[in-house]
Amino acid sequence: MIESSRSGTTLLHFEDEQATAERIAGAGNLELLRIERHRFPDGEIKLRLPSRLPLRLAVLRTLNNPNDKLLELMLLAQTARDAGVKHLTLLAPYLAYMRQDIAFEPGEAISQRIVGRFLANLFDAVITVDPHLHRVATLQEAVPAANTLVLSAAAALSDLIAQQHGAALLVGPDEESAQWVAKAASRHGFDHAVCRKVRHGDRSVSIELPAASISGRAVVLLDDVASTGHTLAHAAELLLAAGAASIDVAVTHALFESGAIALLKAAGVSQIWSTDCVAHSSNAISMAEPLAQALSLLESAAAGQYRD
Ligand code: R5P
Repeated sequence: MIESSRSGTTLLHFEDEQATAERIAGAGNLELLRIERHRFPDGEIKLRLPSRLPLRLAVLRTLNNPNDKLLELMLLAQTARDAGVKHLTLLAPYLAYMRQDIAFEPGEAISQRIVGRFLANLFDAVITVDPHLHRVATLQEAVPAANTLVLSAAAALSDLIAQQHGAALLVGPDEESAQWVAKAASRHGFDHAVCRKVRHGDRSVSIELPAASISGRAVVLLDDVASTGHTLAHAAELLLAAGAASIDVAVTHALFESGAIALLKAAGVSQIWSTDCVAHSSNAISMAEPLAQALSLLESAAAGQYRD
């Protein structure tokens, strides 16, 4: 049933993202609604949405461990549409499947394009933070929804680094990180450089250091995402061998599989900082306020179209 008397933005969330939802709701004065989820013994999922929904609805789902979550989004969006919701926004602080943007071998699925279209078919608008767009210039190309909005954590990470080290050298572990490293460096005038990386397998990379002067520098390795930690760990080892005084790590999306933090520590990394786009013990920056602002921007545009 559609709730016709209320105004403002409603954020629907799952129980495992309650804390993030509360931070965003607090920052944006949003109403929170919770989805009930049940997993049957055979693995199938049942969702139950609140019985009263507004015409315009935002859904919070960060897409680490994405496979079940994508199916949940399909069930959720269709149920919301059937209940009369006219405008659906996906707030996905981390957007999955963005790294496979071409077929590296014949026959490989171009997951970015497929998952992007899947989400665009379900949602009118998508908001995310630092999506891994490399060979594709805009989020709209990857996720062709009517509205897309990209936030970056680079400035916030740069501010945090500036509080720790006045004259850090920012290093990206591969060429794909150049966009985030350049953005973070320009905010506080940090020196910066990027490595060259060749990936041989999920846990095997080779890295070539940049020609920058590293000896004696406080280096911060900066990337959009870290998963197994092997990219950052290998870069850290090489930088320390080249004379770096210290290595810290700053990433937007802390996917970190179990064992990744131990790997980084063993490689000589001191501090590890991340945003709360993916909940992790390394979270040092909250993106709740910019996410709430982005949502309010898109919602005011949609409000003209669909009024409760
Ligand atoms: C790829 O270019 C990404 O930006 C990361 O560098 C990559 O996903 C890190 O993966 P891992 O932590 O498994 O080495």
